[in-house]
Amino acid sequence: KPKVTIQTLQSMRKSKEPITMLTAYDYPTALACSSNPSIDVTLVGDSLAQVCLGYRSTTQLTLDQMIHHASAVARGTTHPLLVADMPFGSYHASIDDAINNAIRMVRESQVEAVKLEGGQEIVNLVQKLTSIGIPVMAHVGLLPQRHISLSGYKVQGKNVASALALLRAAKALEEAGAFSMVVEAVPKELGRYITQNVNIPTIGIGAGPWTNGQVLVWDDAMGTWPGHKAKFVRRFANLQPVRDMGVQSFANAIKDGSFPDPQRESYSMEQAEWTRFL
Ligand code: KIV
Ligand code: NA
Repeated sequence: KPKVTIQTLQSMRKSKEPITMLTAYDYPTALACSSNPSIDVTLVGDSLAQVCLGYRSTTQLTLDQMIHHASAVARGTTHPLLVADMPFGSYHASIDDAINNAIRMVRESQVEAVKLEGGQEIVNLVQKLTSIGIPVMAHVGLLPQRHISLSGYKVQGKNVASALALLRAAKALEEAGAFSMVVEAVPKELGRYITQNVNIPTIGIGAGPWTNGQVLVWDDAMGTWPGHKAKFVRRFANLQPVRDMGVQSFANAIKDGSFPDPQRESYSMEQAEWTRFL
């Protein structure tokens, strides 16, 4: 399977072939994303904070933690384009600071592009990163890094004013050089309208069926945990009961003495050696 590039995604947008993106947080999940030729993009999302590290919010994730995990994902990634979120606080203090942090992500983790949440206020930064050769995936709509100021994880762009603001932000980010954008938690009508009005691939999550692609968090899609399931999530597998059964069987087999089996799962010493040993 040839490497997916920015150009590949642009061609897919033009030919209307849906783009698939899944998150990964470590080497095994990276291998899983790379195991299927139909996965186009692997995203080291900052959802890493909650689903992998047990924090309550993405705002608790540090740049060093992201780099540590993104490096592991990079080691397991083959054909998918590899994108990673810049964590909260790593791209707002100043343009210089943001550039240095983005360079660290590329250099230390081998990610191919960075994803940034925001609208007009990050346009200059997107322009600057793009100009120095660091591809940027934008992220508009619901911005989880701002869940406090947004008073929760709510659908965005439900009225005319906020929908217009979102559309303007999307266009400004495209103009600044973003090669693609995630559109999160907006009405399906707006997901379609933004997609029709920008010339870069949109990848939706809770943005309806008419974006150029779809992304889900690994653990939501694979059902590795019983946590809160948003309306836009579909479970494509249900791994938790399988995992629980594995743990139960392991414990049972030890408690009842059936593991390890003396023939199949144990080593032996030659009888003569054993007799001399005794
Ligand atoms: O952090 C994340 O996993 C994301 C995707 C859900 C788009 O940003
Ligand atoms: Na994210």
